[in-house]
Amino acid sequence: MTTILVTGAAGFIGSNFVRLLVKRKEPVRLVAFDKLTYAGNLANISDLLGDQVIFVKGDICDTDKVVRTVRDYHVSQIVHFAAESHVDRSILGSGPFVQTNVVGTQVLLDIAKSERIEKFLYVSTDEVYGTLPEDRPDIKFTEETPLQPNSPYSASKAAGDCLVRAYFHTFGLPVLTTRCSNNYGPYHFPEKLIPLFVTNLMENKQVPLYGDGKNIRDWLYVEDHCDAVYTVLQKGRFGEVYNVGGNNEMTNRQITEIILREMNKPWDKFVRYVQDRPGHDRRYAIDASKIKRELGWEPKHRFEQAIKTTIQWYRDNEKWWRDIKSGDYLKYYETQYAHR
Ligand code: NAD
Ligand code: TYD
Repeated sequence: MTTILVTGAAGFIGSNFVRLLVKRKEPVRLVAFDKLTYAGNLANISDLLGDQVIFVKGDICDTDKVVRTVRDYHVSQIVHFAAESHVDRSILGSGPFVQTNVVGTQVLLDIAKSERIEKFLYVSTDEVYGTLPEDRPDIKFTEETPLQPNSPYSASKAAGDCLVRAYFHTFGLPVLTTRCSNNYGPYHFPEKLIPLFVTNLMENKQVPLYGDGKNIRDWLYVEDHCDAVYTVLQKGRFGEVYNVGGNNEMTNRQITEIILREMNKPWDKFVRYVQDRPGHDRRYAIDASKIKRELGWEPKHRFEQAIKTTIQWYRDNEKWWRDIKSGDYLKYYETQYAHR
């Protein structure tokens, strides 16, 4: 049976990926490799651990630990989700982003090369393309759009993209890259827009909308992203990049309105406009026609329904997010929002 090393498997998307493959009874063994940073939570996958899913705590920058894990479990494929992932934190300090997203990716690539890994999939983001004008809905990111990252987070992810590309061209490493738009769904860490707003409202707190609230993101349900990653892993062509998106552009104001409506909270009382994020990208929009044309993938979930499922998940799993929001997270929240 194929054994896949899933880095960052205790985070938001990594844990949903493991959950999806287990649910679909895919014939694979999964080694969930995670450092358990503030964003990693073993509770996200603890119910799945057993013969099919094994957890290893480790840092992707730790060569010896990764090599030992690959050898001990006969890993033949790597799906690389592990990253520092929050733009606002990258503005407060970019060191950990360069360390994990750049150095960590380089370490994994070298190990993939020396251990003769059969497939290496790098999970990247649409943010590497930079920003799009809001008055040109006809323009979207394609796989040919130049990389023009604007935040320390996206710059560190783009560096990973470049390394992956270079290992294909220089060494013929069997790599695949996906670049996905914004995800939402269960197990999303409550520092990001949707889970932060949903949980703040559940606590009867205001939600902080940056700038004029008109920034646009292309939202995709996390299970659709995970399905796309597995599709690319199985059928993608080595050296290729595949954009993944929901064809679902919305302003932050629209998202906020929908959440408020679902949760029966009035705008005037609960929305607080706050100082904008420095360098805030205006619009992201993905052209996902390549993955549909070549691999037959398209999203299965519609936003209107999946946002309700997501909000319900936070209602049903209050302990999960309350535990997070009562820990170190509080210090971050104070630093991030105190003077805005
Ligand atoms: P997340 O922050 O929720 O999870 C990241 C996980 O990586 C955590 O479990 C963390 O403990 C782990 N990790 C961090 N540093 C590590 C290290 N040095 N060694 C081992 N593990 C480490 O992030 P996410 O939202 O699940 O994103 C996963 C991947 O998908 C990232 O690469 C991100 O760039 C990409 N992505 C995210 C989105 C999105 O909307 N969230 C969209 C497109 C792409
Ligand atoms: P985020 O979830 O941080 O994802 P990203 O910046 O990677 O796209 O933010 C999504 C959008 O929501 C982005 O335009 C910034 C905005 N935002 C707010 O308005 N308020 C907030 O408190 C947060 C976290 C984000």
